Amino acid sequence: MIFAAGASEQLPALCRELNLSHLLLVTDPGLSATGIVDSIGKLLERAGVSVSRYSDVQADPPEDVVLAAADYARQQNVDGVIGLGGGSSMDVAKLIAVLARSRQSLSDMYGIGNVKGGRLPLIQIPTTAGTGSEVTPIAIVTTGETTKMGVVSPQLLPDIALLDPSLTTGLPAAVTAATGIDAMVHAIEAYTSKLKKNPYSDMLARQALTLMAANLQIAIEHGGNLEARSNMLLGACLAGQAFANAPVAAVHALAYPLGGHYHIPHGLSNSLVLPSVLEFNASEAAALYAELLPCIRPGAHAPSPTAGCDQFIAAMRELVAMAPLPQTLKDAGVPEADLPMLAADAMLQQRLLVNNPRSVNETQALQIYRAAY
Ligand SMILES: NC(=O)c1ccc[n+]([C@@H]2O[C@H](COP(=O)([O-])OP(=O)(O)OC[C@H]3O[C@@H](n4cnc5c(N)ncnc54)[C@H](O)[C@@H]3O)[C@@H](O)[C@H]2O)c1
Ligand SMILES: [Fe+2]
Repeated sequence: MIFAAGASEQLPALCRELNLSHLLLVTDPGLSATGIVDSIGKLLERAGVSVSRYSDVQADPPEDVVLAAADYARQQNVDGVIGLGGGSSMDVAKLIAVLARSRQSLSDMYGIGNVKGGRLPLIQIPTTAGTGSEVTPIAIVTTGETTKMGVVSPQLLPDIALLDPSLTTGLPAAVTAATGIDAMVHAIEAYTSKLKKNPYSDMLARQALTLMAANLQIAIEHGGNLEARSNMLLGACLAGQAFANAPVAAVHALAYPLGGHYHIPHGLSNSLVLPSVLEFNASEAAALYAELLPCIRPGAHAPSPTAGCDQFIAAMRELVAMAPLPQTLKDAGVPEADLPMLAADAMLQQRLLVNNPRSVNETQALQIYRAAY
C-alpha cells in the first residue's frame, strides 16, 4: 500500500519495478470526463509504458461488461492491469486480471475461494472513498437482469494499492456522501459481524469509523479540503480491510436488490436502509453499537449499553439526514408495491445475512423496507 497526496506520480517507477510495459487502464466514462484518466495515461506513456484503455465500466458492473473487458485485454495482449476509479472500475479490473490468463469461466468463479490459477499484475487506484475494493479479495457483478453476485478469492487482492487523495478532491458532493456512508457501513457491519469478528477487524473498524465520522461532512461541503479527503480515503481503506476480515451483513443484503432493480448507486442503497437495519439489530447488537459511539461522537458518555446504542443510532440517523441524498425509498423512486419482491430478493443474499447479529427472515426484511419507505 502506498498512501500520499500525489502518489499517482510514482506509477511509472512502480511499473518498472513490476516489469510492466503494456498496461490496460480500466475506468468508467464519468471519471474519463474529469481528465484524471488522461493525465494518468499520459504520465505512463511519457515514461515509455504503452497504455490500452477500457473506459466503458458501468456502475454495478453487469457480467457482459466484465466479459467484454476481459476479451479486450486478451486482444491487446497487455501484461498488467490498472483499476482506476470507484468500486465498479476496481472490481472489473480484478476480474480482467484473472480472466485474461485463465480458461476458467466467470460463472465458475462466483462464491468463495473458487478462482483457480493466478492473474496478471494488478495495481488499484481508488478515486472514491469508498468501497475499499483496493484492499478486498472481492468483486461484485450484476448477473442476469437484477441479481448481484460476488467472486471472493485471494487472487483478487492487488500487487499494489495506490491511494492518492488528490484524485478525490473533485468527487461531487452526492457521490462523496453516498460512497462515504457505504464505507462507514463497512466498518459498522464488520464490527458486529457474527461469525468472523475479531480483534484485528475491530481495531480497523473503530479507526475507520473515527476518521470518517470526523471528516465526511467537511468532505461533502468543502470537496477541495485535502486533509478531509485524505482522512476519508484512509478511513475507507481501513474499513475495506475490516470487512475483508469480518464480512458485511444485512445492510448490504437489503441494499443489493435496490441496486439490481433500480440502479440506485451502491452507497445510496446502503444509506437508505441503514437506520432501519440498525433499529432492527439493536436488540442483539446494542452493546457493540454502544462501543462504537465514541468513534462517531468523541467524548460522548452513555449510562448503559442500551442508552449508548440509542445515541449511536440517533447519531447515524443524523449523519444520513445531513447528506445531500434522497432520504427514503419513496424519495428514491422505489414503488411501494415492489417491497415484497425486494424482501424475497434480499433472502438470496445468505452469504451476507449469515453475518448479521440478528437473523433476518423475509417477513422481517419486508418490515425493514417498510420502515425505510
Ligand atoms: N469489491 C468490494 O469489496 C466492494 C465493496 C463494496 C461495493 N462494491 C461495488 O463497488 C461498486 C460501487 O463503487 P463506488 O461506490 O465506488 O461507485 P462507482 O465506482 O460506481 O462510481 C460512482 C461514480 O463516481 C464517479 N467518480 C468516481 N471517482 C470520481 C472522481 N474522483 N471524480 C469525479 N467522479 C468520480 C464515477 O464516474 C461514477 O459515475 C458497486 O458495484 C458495488 O457493488 C465492491
Ligand atoms: Fe459496500
